[in-house]
Amino acid sequence: MTKQLAQLALGGWCVSFALQAADAPVSYLKDIEPVLKKNCLGCHMPSNKQSGLLLTSYADFQKGGTKGPAFTSVVGYLTGERQPRMPFGGKPIADETVNLFKRWIAEGAKDDTSSVGAQAHVVAKPPAVYAAAPPVMATAFSPDGKLFAVGGYREILLHEYGGKLLARLAGESMRIHSLAFSPDGKLLAAVGGDPAVSGELQIWDVAARKQTASVVGSNDTFFGVSFSPDGSKIAFAGADKSIRLYDAASGKEIRKMDHHEEWVFATVFGVDGKRLVSVGRDRAAKLTEVETGRFIENINLLKEPLTAVARHPKKDWIAIGGQERIPYLYKMDRPRAMRIADDSTLIRKFEKQDGPILSLAISPDGQHLAVSAEVGPVRIYNLETGDLEAKCAGHEGAVYSLVFHPGSKELLTAGFDGMVRSYDLGGKMLKAFAPVPLEKPIVARNE
Ligand code: HEC
Repeated sequence: MTKQLAQLALGGWCVSFALQAADAPVSYLKDIEPVLKKNCLGCHMPSNKQSGLLLTSYADFQKGGTKGPAFTSVVGYLTGERQPRMPFGGKPIADETVNLFKRWIAEGAKDDTSSVGAQAHVVAKPPAVYAAAPPVMATAFSPDGKLFAVGGYREILLHEYGGKLLARLAGESMRIHSLAFSPDGKLLAAVGGDPAVSGELQIWDVAARKQTASVVGSNDTFFGVSFSPDGSKIAFAGADKSIRLYDAASGKEIRKMDHHEEWVFATVFGVDGKRLVSVGRDRAAKLTEVETGRFIENINLLKEPLTAVARHPKKDWIAIGGQERIPYLYKMDRPRAMRIADDSTLIRKFEKQDGPILSLAISPDGQHLAVSAEVGPVRIYNLETGDLEAKCAGHEGAVYSLVFHPGSKELLTAGFDGMVRSYDLGGKMLKAFAPVPLEKPIVARNE
């Protein structure tokens, strides 16, 4: 694997490229396209084609918009000589970047997307073996605890839990942000995308290892996928502030809801599947009626953005957390006589974590809450009493994903360092393994 691909696999959000020598020609692929992707696609893509201009490929860029070829006019739009300045309503592009556009056009506006050195960039396949374990954002257990799914780079890795790698499910999205098995274990839903480009929902037939649906939409990634308790519906959230509801069998959209004012990160259905909870950057935990899509109310509006939600296996209790670092346990239902802005639904506040909360999980037996944050160990609390039960240490960097084994005796963690670790509920590490095939296998150490 080339260095670039390793960076892609590792960097994820910020694809970094080596600085080129001052006299080397400007490259469309390395210098121009990343700027377009980051700053322009939101308004110049098939779903939002402002002024008839698509900037999704070299050919589209060349063709231009309603006012003609874009190569001749783009610099003017970037400097503000032509109005309105681009990116429209956004922060102007830095002079040195505009100079790259100028030079690239002066040098003949060459298309180098198919050059040999470009291969690493255009590759849309998972690597056969990884040079380093990529950060893991998503993990899930099948309901019987036998299968363990992990999000990789443009793939999902399906492991036999405690055993071998069973299958590699290659898909479209660069990064998988969230995974969920259907309650009967037959389907696996994944959401993710390519940051600032597109979001995707994938549905897989687990036994056949076959993708039954791939829905690409939006201009940024999707997050927080969940199944309704009867397995018929899939909900997920978007950087486009949406909550989306899909039919699990057909992969067809049922409804898109826009109750949030900011990015939405996580969803979970209530026990009877009639209501959906979603949390997001707008600090709100919102309750939506599934049947109609109607916004019911804010379960709460906290002081800081929310990133995670988990539901009690048998009750309509939800744990939420985010920037404020404090995990809260709330009831979804408000006692009738209470006013809207009160805190009568709060069951418990847990202790403040070392950093912003990234993930929450409640054990399938309803006894424990696990919390991960940007820094510090993963902590396990007694859900009923709020007492700290264990600290799970050993990670390098943030832990993005927490999942209890369905037997409620083990907690699995994964995150920035690309390793999956399992702990007993006393915080003892049982196992650590890299979920992807590596060029140089890491020898897993048990503590
Ligand atoms: C927030 C939305 C938005 C973003 C982001 C944006 N544009 Fe635009 N763009 C527009 C709109 C709206 C127009 C039409 C403006 C007009 O003529 O009134 C336009 C027009 C253009 C045109 C003229 C097309 C034609 O032939 O009519 C060019 C070229 C262009 N944009 C380039 C860019 C580039 C390059 C970027 C990124 C650096 C960018 N735009 C980012 C909204 C956007």
